[in-house]
Amino acid sequence: MFQTIPTPAVLVDLEVAQANIEKFQRYADAAGFKLRPHIKTHKMPLIAKRQIAAGAVGVTCQKISEARAMISQGGIDDVLLTFNIVGADKVAALKKLAGDVRLTVVADSLTVVDGLAKVFDDPDARLGVMVECDTGAERCGVVTPDDAVPVAARIDAAPGLRFAGLMTYPPVGRARHVADWLATAAGACEAVGLQVPLISTGGSPGMWDAAALDWPTEYRIGTYVYNDRSLVQRGVCDWADCALTVLATVVSVPTTGRAIIDAGSKVLTSDLLGLAGHGHVLGRPDIAIAALSEEHGTLKAENIDLQVGDRLRIVPNHACVVANMLDHVQQPCLRRGEHAGPCATDREWHTAGPAGHGARAGLVTCAPPHRPNP
Ligand SMILES: Cc1ncc(COP(=O)(O)O)c(C=O)c1O
Repeated sequence: MFQTIPTPAVLVDLEVAQANIEKFQRYADAAGFKLRPHIKTHKMPLIAKRQIAAGAVGVTCQKISEARAMISQGGIDDVLLTFNIVGADKVAALKKLAGDVRLTVVADSLTVVDGLAKVFDDPDARLGVMVECDTGAERCGVVTPDDAVPVAARIDAAPGLRFAGLMTYPPVGRARHVADWLATAAGACEAVGLQVPLISTGGSPGMWDAAALDWPTEYRIGTYVYNDRSLVQRGVCDWADCALTVLATVVSVPTTGRAIIDAGSKVLTSDLLGLAGHGHVLGRPDIAIAALSEEHGTLKAENIDLQVGDRLRIVPNHACVVANMLDHVQQPCLRRGEHAGPCATDREWHTAGPAGHGARAGLVTCAPPHRPNP
């Protein structure tokens, strides 16, 4: 399988990714909320541009450097940066970014707002700032609805800032609680004369329940473009909807119940996302990826039935962290549903159809996912 591709490799099936993009965009359009995909899942302007072409209103980024990478090729002019930007050097970089794209950021404290206000002081070019709300995920965010008010008021009072609304990354499975939390926060803001123009939530685990929510104006979604084992386990998608896989080679078969592959935590990562095991071997549900060290993956099964040199494709637990591990991905020639089988040829990134079975196109290294350091 994919004999020309050096392993371990990350394969991205663009057709599956495109189908995932279009399917959820149709859903959002029908439900009447806007989509703002989070690019950290793919880190490729090429895919971000496909998301925009499908109808997304802009992108979400967590890092200034990734936002820079996204806008570097044109075609993306609206960025929401969902991270507290702290420190003079970062705020200066943010200011520069704001000169190049329509930018909105978040803040969850007066300190963060004041840091922004020091640099963004032009009433004719106000920076939109949303208040990040911790509705139960226990990451950043003001921790009660009432706490949103002083932060929103401080934003509103700063000459170079504009209060842009409320943003949350919600806990999984607590939609009612999140809705009540944000409605209370919005009410508290409005009670002191602060209009709430946007309420932004997101998350792939709850994507197919989003239409039942009547309050978000905007939905940020990342993993849906590739899907992964965690989303299959939650019933959000099927294996055939998983666009990103890790290609690995069996390098040792020490016993009839154990084999070793060349994909360890350096590519699959140690992110379990609450699951047992480190990924799903396509076509071999009997095999567990039982342990990882940096370069080794330990497979276990009743009868492992593998040879040294065999190749396997693995759906990782969490696609986003895997995309962050390597400098490039491969676009193999695959049709929908063909995941487990061998493939006749590799295919070039932009090619519309299969590149001719039998005539090996050779290894095609695709647009590198941007992997900046800071
Ligand atoms: C702020 C924010 N918004 C949106 C997302 C996208 O979530 P998901 O990958 O579950 O779709 C993430 C992911 O971590 C996030 O941190």
